[in-house]
Amino acid sequence: MTTPQQITSMKHKQKIVMLTAYDFPTARLMDGIVDIMLVGDSLGMVVLGCENTTKVTMDDMARATEAVARAAKSSLVVGDLPIGAYDSEKDALKNANLLLKAGAKAVKIERKPEIAEFLVKNGIDVMGHIGLTPQTITNFKVQGKNEESAKVLLEEGKAMDNANCFSLVLECIPSGLAKNITESVSIPTIGIGAGIHCDGQVLVTHDILGLFEAFKPKFVKRYAEIGLEMKKAFEQYAEEVRKGKFPSDEFSFH
Ligand code: KIV
Repeated sequence: MTTPQQITSMKHKQKIVMLTAYDFPTARLMDGIVDIMLVGDSLGMVVLGCENTTKVTMDDMARATEAVARAAKSSLVVGDLPIGAYDSEKDALKNANLLLKAGAKAVKIERKPEIAEFLVKNGIDVMGHIGLTPQTITNFKVQGKNEESAKVLLEEGKAMDNANCFSLVLECIPSGLAKNITESVSIPTIGIGAGIHCDGQVLVTHDILGLFEAFKPKFVKRYAEIGLEMKKAFEQYAEEVRKGKFPSDEFSFH
């Protein structure tokens, strides 16, 4: 099983591959192909149908983490702490431990380097996340586009590094800024909408498979159209049932 420490040591050596996973069958197909399976709170949008991630609860995250961890034999499982789960050190520690108990080997938090440092000091491996952080940002645009905001992001990246996070997600920032942050921190950066210079990449699995239709950000590349395949199967099944063609003898007991 890949460890957070192995992920850290991949910087300058090998690109890190991360995808999101929220359920057992998908995690089983993905395990060993990616380095990290992130049980992201994007679950709120792509699985539960919410408008954003702000309604995701610890119960949602723990249940999904359990399912993914049950399938994980090789890839590192990281659980996302949802909004409200790490507002204080006490809550952060309690909820991070709940995700570890559910099978995650590390947790991810958005910003808050002081909470990251506290968790690390308490023996928990933490993946940081800066840039477009959906739990707190309402302006869903590329972040760090002007000099001042770019400087703030660079400082946030360094703070996450100083907090001893084992890796850092950079979401939706210009690729030049991502390069600068990547070169300025000792931990690997994992980009989503942050260009080619990051130490690794992550995308939301439902986006790359064509399973999430509400919108498609510019940084998403569709690697398959599973949604269309599913629709075709549903239509064929419905037609065969309605026409009395299914179940034929082959699918019946005698
Ligand atoms: O929740 C999530 O899926 C994430 C990734 C987009 C990094 O945070």
